[in-house]
Amino acid sequence: MKIPFVDLKKHHAKIKKEIQKAINSVVETNAYIMGPELKKFELDFAKFCNVKYSVGVNSGSSGLFLALKALGVKQGDEVITVANTFIATAQAISMCGAKIKFVDVDEKTCLMDAKKLERAITKKTKVILPVHLYGQICDMKLIMKIAKKYGVKVLEDACESHGAKQNGKKQIFGDLVVYSFYPSKNLGAFGDAGAVVTNNLKLYEKVLALRDYGRKKGAEYLHEEEGFNMRMDSLQAAVLNVKLKYLNKWNSQRRNHVKLYNKFLKDLVIIPSEEKNNDHVYYVYVIQVNKRAELMKFLSSKGVGVKIHFPIPIYSQPQYTCLKVNKKSFSNTEKISKKILSLPMFPELTDKQIKYVCQQINNFYSKNS
Ligand SMILES: Cc1ncc(COP(=O)(O)O)c(C=O)c1O
Repeated sequence: MKIPFVDLKKHHAKIKKEIQKAINSVVETNAYIMGPELKKFELDFAKFCNVKYSVGVNSGSSGLFLALKALGVKQGDEVITVANTFIATAQAISMCGAKIKFVDVDEKTCLMDAKKLERAITKKTKVILPVHLYGQICDMKLIMKIAKKYGVKVLEDACESHGAKQNGKKQIFGDLVVYSFYPSKNLGAFGDAGAVVTNNLKLYEKVLALRDYGRKKGAEYLHEEEGFNMRMDSLQAAVLNVKLKYLNKWNSQRRNHVKLYNKFLKDLVIIPSEEKNNDHVYYVYVIQVNKRAELMKFLSSKGVGVKIHFPIPIYSQPQYTCLKVNKKSFSNTEKISKKILSLPMFPELTDKQIKYVCQQINNFYSKNS
C-alpha cells in the first residue's frame, strides 16, 4: 500500500469545481491585487479566529517579520522563542536585526517550556514568540503572566495551529498572531500565503501599511515609512475563501484519525501529548521513537511517507551556529530532535490506511526490539 505523508490531490478532489469557479471569477474581474476576494477573506478569517482584525500577507514568514516590525523590534532587542520550530520563526527575528534567545521545550508536548521562560528574560527582551507547533497551543496562561510581569509583548506563531483552542478560546492571547497558508497546512492556499491577526487597532493599521510599501491609507503614491510588498494576492484569497468553510470539519477529521492512531500505537511508541483544556488540531501527528533512522527506512520501504518536524534545532543550523548556544541548556530540545517522527496526516486519510501504518510500525518493533 502507498500512503503519502499528505495527499493534496485527494484533499482537493471534492472542492475542485468550487475552487475553479472562485479562480475564474478573479480572472473575470482582473482584480489580482487587493481585490474584493482579499477583503472577504480578511473579514471571514478574523471572524473564524474570533478577533477584530486580520491582514492577508504573502506567507507566514512575511507575517512574522511584519508583526515583529509592527511591535518595533530592532537591532539591540532580544526576542525569545524555541529551537524546535521551522527556520522562518528565527529568520523573522534576525531579519529585524534582533538577537534570538532560546528557551528549552517540554519533553512531552515539544512546545516552549513556559516554566523555563522567566530565566531567559533580560532588560533587552522586547517580545516573547511562542510557537504553537504541530497544532497545539503553548501554555499561554503562564506565558502571558510572565509577559505582563515584565512588560514584554507577545507574538504567537500559529503557522501550524489553525483553529486550535485552549480553555475553549482560540488563539489570541498575545498582541498578534501569525498564520501560514502553505499548501499542506490545515488551511492551505495554492501557493504561499499567510495572515496576521490582532485585536489592537494600532497594530492592525501598522501591519496594513507595512505589507503595502508603507503606503498612507487611501493615497496611491504617498509613503510614510519604509514598507514592503508582502500582500496576499487575490487568487490565493479566492482559494482560501472556499477552503475556510471546511476548516472546522477537516480539523475534526484530523482529531478522529488521532483516536485511531493512539489506540494502535500507545503501547509501541510515545504518542503525542494533548494537554488538558487544549483542542489540538494535529497539523502533524508526531510520535517519539527509538531506532528512528531504521524505522524511517522500513516505513519508506513499505510505502509510508514520514517526515521529521524538525530534525535540526535552530541553534545547530549552519546559519545560526554563530549564536554559540550552550546545548546543555536545551536537553529536551536535543533529546526530542533525535526521536520525533511525523506520520501521515490529512483529513481524507482512511481507517484502513491508519491501520496499515500502525501495523508496519508494530512489525518493525517485533523484529527490532
Ligand atoms: C512554525 C512555523 N513558522 C513559520 C512558518 C512559515 O510559514 P510560510 O511557509 O508560510 O512562510 C511555518 C511554515 O511552514 C511554520 O511551520
